[in-house]
Amino acid sequence: MKIIGISASARPNKSTHFLLEQCLNELKTTAEASGKSIEVELIDLAPLKINGCIACDSCKKGVLCSQQDDYQPLIPKLADPKVAGIIMATPVYMGCMSSQAKALLDRTVLFRRNGFMFKNKLGGVITVGGSRNGGQELTIQAVHAAMMIHDMIIVGDGDHFGGAAWANHPDGYQSDTTGISTAKNLGRRIAEVAQMMQV
Ligand SMILES: Cc1cc2nc3c(=O)[nH]c(=O)nc-3n(C[C@H](O)[C@H](O)[C@H](O)COP(=O)(O)O)c2cc1C
Repeated sequence: MKIIGISASARPNKSTHFLLEQCLNELKTTAEASGKSIEVELIDLAPLKINGCIACDSCKKGVLCSQQDDYQPLIPKLADPKVAGIIMATPVYMGCMSSQAKALLDRTVLFRRNGFMFKNKLGGVITVGGSRNGGQELTIQAVHAAMMIHDMIIVGDGDHFGGAAWANHPDGYQSDTTGISTAKNLGRRIAEVAQMMQV
């Protein structure tokens, strides 16, 4: 069983990546503590060039995409039946998800058009805003909407919607203990639910 985390920030190794790492580490620790390990992979979109969907409808003919960009190697990764869930981490841009997150999610339509390949996979979301309340919850829900279009199973942080963090904490994003705990709690919940579903 594997969970894929996607960092959809324009910047590599910044707060979005950090929060996702915290989440995946907690996920692994939770799984290991119960005696059943879960493989995790973090995919950082920052160095990748992924265009928006051009609605060419090629994917109606199979699990393929006509655009030859950095999305191509992600198709087999995401199609792997071992993948039990996807955690999307995105910065808040103009009150919603980043264009990197939206482009990726739109391009995943090929999995829906080929037998709902994400059906029953778990979905969780982490957001990071420059402001404490800059649109994190709205952004989480926007990503949830795409996950529901895939008929995925949405998992929250056990308390609210998912990971919601503040990049401009006065002591640095690594000091946003409130936000970090929501990301960790999401990882713990994904591990718990993934293991329940494995039975
Ligand atoms: C184009 C753009 C729009 C942004 N809009 C918002 C916003 O609406 N609300 C907010 O809280 N922060 C906003 N921010 C700040 C980012 O959410 C914040 O810097 C975040 O940490 C970026 O993630 P990173 O550290 O991975 O780069 C915006 C940043 C950019 C570049």
